[in-house]
Amino acid sequence: MNRTASHRITICTSCKDVSTGRRPGAELIQALRAGLAEARDGLGSDFSVGGAACMAGCTRPCTVGFHGVSKASYLFGDIGAAGSGDDVADLVAFARQYALLSDGWCSSVDRPGKLRRTTLARIPATLFAAPAGEEVQP
Ligand code: FES
Repeated sequence: MNRTASHRITICTSCKDVSTGRRPGAELIQALRAGLAEARDGLGSDFSVGGAACMAGCTRPCTVGFHGVSKASYLFGDIGAAGSGDDVADLVAFARQYALLSDGWCSSVDRPGKLRRTTLARIPATLFAAPAGEEVQP
């Protein structure tokens, strides 16, 4: 029986590796799909992995986004080409962690490997809004 993926990972397919001029996004998608599928805990069926043309992190190629319903979203940069096994391993480790976080929120020191220092954005799932006429408290 197929489970419906409840999380999504988006990889930029336009980012260009500075040293080679190649666009590694498509290879990275395949490598990450394989890494998730190899995980023994069913991680592969909980994540869909796809591409996007650009996620506005162009100066930090490759960029990778994590999304989940009612969860914080993340954008990571400086993710290496598919041959960078450590980067794929870090993304798989973060996927495992992210799947278990009810709101997706974690601090940088809790993220695996290089994802501790390559987070470009963490966007909360909940919008804090005040009723009309009231100020939003910090
Ligand atoms: S080209 Fe990859 S984020 Fe813009």
